[in-house]
Amino acid sequence: MHVLILGHGRHMPATLRALDPSTTVSVLCEIAAVPRVRDLAQVSRLVGVTAGAPVDEWVELARGVHNAAPVDVVAAFGEWLQDVAAAVGEALGARSHAPSTVRDVHDKTRTRAVLAAAGLDDVRRGAVTRVDQAQDVVASVGTPCIVKPGDGVGSRGVTLVERPADAARAFLAATGGRPDAVDAPVVVEEYLVGPQFSVDMVGHGGEHRVLGVVRKYSDPASFVELGHVAPAPVAPDDRDALARAAVAAVTALGVTEGATHTELVLTARGARIIETHLRLGGDDIPRLVEDTTGVVPEREAARSVLRLGPESAPVTDPRGAASAIWFVPARVAGRLVELRGLDAARAADGVVAVDVLRATGADVRPLAESSDRVASVRAVGPDPRTALERARVAAALVRVVVEQDAPAALDALV
Ligand SMILES: Nc1ncnc2c1ncn2[C@@H]1O[C@H](COP(=O)(O)OP(=O)(O)OP(=O)(O)O)[C@@H](O)[C@H]1O
Ligand SMILES: [Mg+2]
Repeated sequence: MHVLILGHGRHMPATLRALDPSTTVSVLCEIAAVPRVRDLAQVSRLVGVTAGAPVDEWVELARGVHNAAPVDVVAAFGEWLQDVAAAVGEALGARSHAPSTVRDVHDKTRTRAVLAAAGLDDVRRGAVTRVDQAQDVVASVGTPCIVKPGDGVGSRGVTLVERPADAARAFLAATGGRPDAVDAPVVVEEYLVGPQFSVDMVGHGGEHRVLGVVRKYSDPASFVELGHVAPAPVAPDDRDALARAAVAAVTALGVTEGATHTELVLTARGARIIETHLRLGGDDIPRLVEDTTGVVPEREAARSVLRLGPESAPVTDPRGAASAIWFVPARVAGRLVELRGLDAARAADGVVAVDVLRATGADVRPLAESSDRVASVRAVGPDPRTALERARVAAALVRVVVEQDAPAALDALV
């Protein structure tokens, strides 16, 4: 089978070829991503694309690869380039997500419209493209509500709005200060109250295998994720309801193959979707799944690409019954001087990984988006509560030393 990967593909070339050595992998990625293609020995063709090239150019370059050796599957394993991968797949007649599926998943307004049309969503919502209409839309949806970018990532620009008078400010937070929403309308939707979860799955011919139902904890002000624990500490009925809602949502969106990561809230009236993605979870969620089940989600995703069906048995030994990750934020803005206590965190009970996410010298600030987090700690334990507690205790050992910006000069003050 010939797999064309768009983007550097992380470990996927090696994972695919380990599963089936007769697999041919070609990679098409931006020139800047070429050095990030990890294992060149596993790659038969590597084509560098000009930064910002239009979709047509990607399609033509992919056609060149296809002419050299017919492509069977086109895949992009990250968020970026999924739309291009779908266009390339369609143009070459190769397997890929349908362009409409990618569009509907990436645009949060369209996602809810598709789910509502399938009878799967009743969340009150609106969409707004101009700041001067924000207040009316918020008033019609009702408060409290969430205002967020229609195509956002990393929790950037997400605001909980309590009063219509705050709508314009929230709109501008969603657009990065622009009075018009250019790429996708700003989303206004009912604030879903309840614990939040994510469900990671891999589709095999339309059957979605649930790899993990994970509880997540977010910062109440910025909605940036602070931690996750697997398995989610919920009653079996709730777990099933979350998994069923995730399967129904991705199925309605036309996903049949590959990895999905679906975010949900367990509200008083049942599980409700926040959004879904055509990739595995971020924040090391695949490692939480692997720690607790022995299933390697990336391998499962690769099996889907190769049409091998689900893995019949776990491939690694579970490290614990539960696994959690907790993030370390910076409390003040400034330059990151040092992270102290990393060794103590690594030596703490149950800790299996401590990762530094921001480099020394980087500008840091209190949480506004996911990329503001400076470190993470992963810990395992005999149950979700213990794993979570261990990760949090170890994360608290990490001290973020920040050199604050110099105070304003006296003569600049009034
Ligand atoms: N309708 C809602 N009700 C309650 N919370 C919400 C709602 N919409 C978004 N949130 C909160 O804001 C977070 C970010 O929103 P969303 O997932 O839509 O954006 P994102 O930028 O794609 O985030 P990320 O990349 O961090 O997943 C969600 O994970 C959730 O905690
Ligand atoms: Mg999200």
